[in-house]
Amino acid sequence: MDKEFQIVILPGDGIGPEIMEEAVKLLRNVEEKEGVRFHLSYERIGGDAIDHDGTPLPEQTLNRCREADAVLLGAVGGPKWDDNPPELRPEKGLLAIRKGLDIFANLRPAFLYDAMKSVSSLKEEVVRGVDIMVVRELTGGIYFGEKTRETVNGQEMATDKLSYTEQEIERVVRQAFEIARKRKNFVTSVDKANVLESSRLWRSVVDRVAKDYPDVQYQHMLVDACAMEIIRSPRQFDVIVTENMFGDILSDEASMLTGSIGMLPSASMGDGTFGLYEPVHGSAPDIAGENIANPVATILSTAMMLRYSLGLTRAADEVDRAVEEVLQSGVRTMDIAESREQAVTTSEMGDQIVAAYRKQG
Ligand code: IPM
Ligand code: MN
Repeated sequence: MDKEFQIVILPGDGIGPEIMEEAVKLLRNVEEKEGVRFHLSYERIGGDAIDHDGTPLPEQTLNRCREADAVLLGAVGGPKWDDNPPELRPEKGLLAIRKGLDIFANLRPAFLYDAMKSVSSLKEEVVRGVDIMVVRELTGGIYFGEKTRETVNGQEMATDKLSYTEQEIERVVRQAFEIARKRKNFVTSVDKANVLESSRLWRSVVDRVAKDYPDVQYQHMLVDACAMEIIRSPRQFDVIVTENMFGDILSDEASMLTGSIGMLPSASMGDGTFGLYEPVHGSAPDIAGENIANPVATILSTAMMLRYSLGLTRAADEVDRAVEEVLQSGVRTMDIAESREQAVTTSEMGDQIVAAYRKQG
């Protein structure tokens, strides 16, 4: 019997469906090459789900994800839903699925392919060899804290509460140290401990957890300093671990070192091997349906899924190499091309990567 895996596909909004098509194309080829079976079930999330089901995260979607080995997500959001109330915004679907699946560690690699070093807006000598893994806490902090609106002395006032428990901090910090062990053994924990109480707790938990990892070096860095250092001297970083909002911002910043956010994958993990994989970029409604979006972030997210959730390491390595070869050979989608004429379409980029994958090994 072939090995079988259940995978939920969540195309979502904007360019989501078209980039997801490229991932599925690749998965069909992995099946053939590895002699495995992927059972794909397509479900709705985000604006697509709001339109069809009246909620950004239908029960059925969450239930199917809970039964699956892994989830692949395209992107959510678009101007159509921008004026909706908070509970009926596409983004709410993302937050709810993260919480609902308890995937608290968001891994966002910022890795610069040698072929791409001239695309970065920073100097080549600054970005050459950059390889950072941002580990962002994903299910706690200010994005999930109590929110209030009230009128105080005739003034409208809004509050967002930022809280963390020790346990919430410890589990994501442990993941970061484990990941560092498979990389360069160096963790930078980012906080704002000179001002925030939640950061002071964060720092003390990091100091405690670090005792279990004497082989891993670590340092604390304030978030404002880190924002600066990422641009000034990005090669100093290996693993960066931080709370939800800081991680949201710093991971976008780090992604720009590599030239295009269209290249970067992410994995969101809990305690086991289950994970949700999605490109770091958004739904890009301005170019949706035009077959010009860059599918590389989604394809690399698929490779992360093969590696972390399905244990198909060889296939994951081969996909990574295929992407590298295709970039090396100069194939570019519009976001990374030097001219519009030179650019290939979404599906051409997908086809080239699949072809290169088939030749590996
Ligand atoms: C991301 C996105 C989301 C986040 C939004 C859309 C809720 O920006 O995945 O980084 O902030 O987590
Ligand atoms: Mn973000």
